[in-house]
Amino acid sequence: MDMWKFFDITHREHILCNPMSLEKLDQLITLLRLKPGARVLEIATGKGEFIIRLAERYRQMTGTGIDFSPYCIAEVRKKHQTRVPDAQLSFLEMDGAEYLPETLESFDLVACIGASWIYGGHRGTLNALYRMATPESWIVVGEPYWRHEPEGEYLQAIGVTRSDFGTHYQNVEVGREHGLEAVYTLVSSQDDWDKYEGLQWYAAETWASDHQNDPDVETVLKRVRENKTAYLRWGRETLGWAIYVFRKGGYGGSK
Ligand SMILES: C[S@@+](CC[C@H](N)C(=O)[O-])C[C@H]1O[C@@H](n2cnc3c(N)ncnc32)[C@H](O)[C@@H]1O
Repeated sequence: MDMWKFFDITHREHILCNPMSLEKLDQLITLLRLKPGARVLEIATGKGEFIIRLAERYRQMTGTGIDFSPYCIAEVRKKHQTRVPDAQLSFLEMDGAEYLPETLESFDLVACIGASWIYGGHRGTLNALYRMATPESWIVVGEPYWRHEPEGEYLQAIGVTRSDFGTHYQNVEVGREHGLEAVYTLVSSQDDWDKYEGLQWYAAETWASDHQNDPDVETVLKRVRENKTAYLRWGRETLGWAIYVFRKGGYGGSK
């Protein structure tokens, strides 16, 4: 089935498409203290809640949001028109890996929250974002981390390898290899994770009963129920999630 349709169905109840609370996200937005005219780039913007909230808070910023999903881009464009129509935001429906800014080192905040596969993982993401960020800028990434060693059965069930993710400590340390100092982390609580996962079960089951003749009903329910089992059996205790806030060009932070 079309992966964008699957993601749209399973995330139709979500505002943020990652396991973070809106309260913690708002705290981050306050801490970022963007200057008038700041330029923001968000790769894999999803439904755009982060960049829209940034524009609501920092009215004079300009922003570019990129996502490969036509459903997400349609939704974020609607949000832009209804919530901050005067904000200078533009949205591109494209593969983030293909995006090249006109000028490197031109964004004051570059973010990629929950889509590091675009750049081959956490290290590749920091490397790519670093090149697009101005000498004194924020780099914000969202990434899973191992809370303890994963069981082989769990890795098989979710189709990842042990080396796909690091520990929380390693996710911070990788920044240092790039001359990036982590100045803050937002770590999801068990409750944040349970909401993120549970809303997918709810969305899939209610969508299936409202669309019984849709050819994808069985696929959606099978995948979501398998993911639910893996989460409850292993994931809930094994996998963590955090948003890492790095500063480029902090004291002693040259590459
Ligand atoms: C887990 S969601 C995170 C969305 C958003 N950052 C958030 O936190 O709400 C992952 C997002 O990555 C997008 N995505 C997946 N592959 C992509 C690619 N190659 N280029 C751009 N976006 C991509 C998906 O459409 C989805 O919106």
